[in-house]
Formats: sequence, C-alpha cells, structure tokens
Amino acid sequence: MAVSAGEEGAAGSQGNAVRCGTPPSAPAPVRHLSATGPPSGGPRRGGYSGGVTFPVVGMVGGGQLARMTHEAGIPLGLKFKLLSDTPQDSAAQVVSEVVIGDYRDLDTLRAFARGCDVITFDHEHVPTEHLRALEADGIPVRPGPDALVHAQDKGVMRARLTEIGAPCPRHRLVRDPADAAAFAAEAGGFPVILKTVRGGYDGKGVWVVRSEEDAAEPFRAGVPVLAEEKVDFVRELAANIVRSPHGQAVAYPVVESIQVDGVCDTVIAPAPGLDERLAGEAQQLALRIAAELGVVGHLAVELFETRDGRILVNELAMRPHNSGHWTQDGAITSQFANHVRAVLDLPLGDPRPRAPWTVMCNVLGGDYPDMYQAYLHCMARDPQLKIHMYGKDVKPGRKVGHVNTYGDDLADVRERARHAADYLRGTITE
Ligand SMILES: Nc1ncnc2c1ncn2[C@@H]1O[C@H](COP(=O)(O)OP(=O)(O)OP(=O)(O)O)[C@@H](O)[C@H]1O
Ligand SMILES: [Mg+2]
Repeated sequence: MAVSAGEEGAAGSQGNAVRCGTPPSAPAPVRHLSATGPPSGGPRRGGYSGGVTFPVVGMVGGGQLARMTHEAGIPLGLKFKLLSDTPQDSAAQVVSEVVIGDYRDLDTLRAFARGCDVITFDHEHVPTEHLRALEADGIPVRPGPDALVHAQDKGVMRARLTEIGAPCPRHRLVRDPADAAAFAAEAGGFPVILKTVRGGYDGKGVWVVRSEEDAAEPFRAGVPVLAEEKVDFVRELAANIVRSPHGQAVAYPVVESIQVDGVCDTVIAPAPGLDERLAGEAQQLALRIAAELGVVGHLAVELFETRDGRILVNELAMRPHNSGHWTQDGAITSQFANHVRAVLDLPLGDPRPRAPWTVMCNVLGGDYPDMYQAYLHCMARDPQLKIHMYGKDVKPGRKVGHVNTYGDDLADVRERARHAADYLRGTITE
C-alpha cells in the first residue's frame, strides 16, 4: 500500500515495493547538511561534549506536532531547538533548548535561527517574508517560503493547484456577501462554502452558507474570503507523502479521515474499500503537487472522494498532519521520522504499513481533567493500544492526545480505538 518514487512521481499502484529515486531533471540547488559542519561553513553546531557533531533542528511552534517530531529525532541523536509561545506548550515541556518568543517578530526569529542548521515548523503561520529573510541570512528553511505559502493561503493554493491541473472544487475569491451570492448562482445555488484564506484550523474559518444574509459573518475578520462549491463527497481522504531536497519521495497509503464538527476524529489506514486506481491517483497527485510546489518534508493533501469516483483537493498541509498520526505505530517509518529525515536531506524511510489496518482516534478533552486515571482500564483492556498524550491541559473539545490500534480485523481495530478514546475522554465508563 505504500510507494516510494522519484520526483516524477512514478509511484505505481499501491502495494509496490519501496524504491528510491532521483529526478531526471536537476532539482533546484540544495544545501546539504552534514555531520561535519553546517552548510554555511560557520562554526560547528550541535556538538555534544564528547565531540560528535549532530545538526540542530530549529522547530518553530511548540504544539504537539513539534513534540512528536522531537520524539522521532531522539533515536537519531538529533538536537532540537524550539521557538515556543509559552513554557507550557506541548513541545516546550520536553525539548531541552527552548526559546520563548513571538514567531511573528523577525528579530526573534533571527536570534532563534542562529545556531540552527535548519528551520522547520509545527504550524504554517510564520509570515512568508520573514522566512525569506531567514533564507537570505543563509539558514535553510524547510519547507521553504515559496512552497509554504500554498499551505498558508487557501487563495494562493487554489490558484496554483488550478494552474497545474490538480482537481479542485469550483471556487473563487469573493468580495462581499452579494459577490458570494453571485458565486452561489454560478455554482448551482446555495449552500456554498466560504473560507477565510488565512488563519483557519480545525474548521474555524470555514462556513457553510445558505443565503446572502448568512454570508456576512466570514467577512467580519477583514481577511480575504474564498468561496467554494459545497462538495457532495462520500468521504474525506488524505494522501500523505514526504519529499526530500534531493527529490526523493515516499508515499503512505491513502487514508480515510472522519471529521466531527469540523475536527478530525478518526483516521483509518488504508481507506477501506478505496478503489486501487483512485488510491494510486491520489498518491501520484500528492507526489506531483509536492514536486511542482517544491515541498520539502511532510505534505498532507486533504481530499474529497466524490460520489462519481473522483478525487478533489480540499487543502494542503506542509508539516506532519493529524491524518498521519497512525504512522507512529502503524508504519515502518512514521511521518515524524520521515519529516526529520527530509528536512536534513537524509534518505527517507520505508512508509509501508506494519499491519493490514491501523486506526487513529483523537482524544478530545471532556469533563474529567485527569485522564491518567483512565490508563489503568485502557491498558488492561487492550495491551496493543498505543496512547499518545500531548501534555496539554484538558479543556472540553480540545485535542489533547490520540490513540492508535492496529490488527487484521478492521471492525475490531476500530472498536478498540473508539473505546479507548471515549474512555479517556470520559464519555464511557466501562
Ligand atoms: N468545498 C467544500 N465542500 C464540502 N465540505 C467542505 C469544503 N471545504 C471544507 N469542507 C469541510 O470543512 C472541513 C474543514 O475545511 P478545511 O480543511 O478547509 O479547513 P481547516 O479549518 O483549515 O481544516 P483543518 O482542521 O484541516 O486545519 C473539511 O474537512 C470538510 O469537512
Ligand atoms: Mg482541513
């Protein structure tokens, strides 16, 4: 179910053996990091007192993605430096070198980047011009600003995807509620989807709009608004790939992602019953998008599967992604480990699954702040259960962790993950 390919995306159908490749055309000049010194030829960084030198990965953003990326770097002996908003952030609790500061401030970013061999991200919110400034200072930024802007701005993303012929829902930027109503008329009528082009997450910044009056709300933030046809999808999928500066790429099996109230709830790997041709198409599409946009690191392509057997791109994320958390326990190399390898331009690891089925369920905060109490029951009930908690305070509805289960029988694997997530949350008591 997993493939690896050169930049041209010769992924083939799911189930191929892992292959490595370099693109036939020369990739953009790449600065290689090595254990013998930083790319700029400056002072050696990241040295342990014993004299062995490892690169320092600078991670901007202290959320759970940073925490789990750091975790994946530990067995490789990598050093992490973290730029975090507060000392309480998920990753700030575990990374030894933490800078507390504002990623929107260029001076803070510059000071942070000194002593890092490469910069990567937990989120997509660092201003594009700041990333260009860091690059001009000689710091490799991965993914780079020209790629990342497509994950930062949904308007830019739609324009570029349309240009490269990637299938998208009908869309256009709209000026005001009347223009949104005009778009609805063009797209076959209400309801339509309105999205702020920047700053959305977990469904915040996305509205299902049923009338012109309804359309007022999205414009209140003063951010440009993108209108999209409301896709009548059968389900949501994600095609996750990792690409290195060399142009090596690996593709994970395409997964089904189930959202509840706009928040990812369950991910099933691989997507059950997905037509093999469509799965291959989705992987090829993700590899092609990564190559065209020059993505380095993990790329999640969120997809809709339509009733008539097509896939449409919903959005892109250029960092480890919730739809890839299953890989921690369900794949030979996790998305986090491969993201780290990619940003250091190391050979990528095998993305193939370890079991026929892996299911991830997010653990959201519920009424019981002490989730540790639930470990006893969950672990005793299912010795194969993998719990990943983020060290975040439990607040109702907040993503505070996830669980992974795997095995041969999908119904059983799914039930075990669901049970553990619900028990941890406190919505069931046995
Ligand atoms: N054009 C569309 N048609 C139908 N449903 C849509 C459309 N766009 C978005 N949605 C629904 O809204 C959800 C959130 O949209 P989107 O992924 O764009 O926003 P987000 O808040 O950036 O998401 P994320 O939680 O991935 O950060 C999607 O997962 C999907 O369920
Ligand atoms: Mg999304």
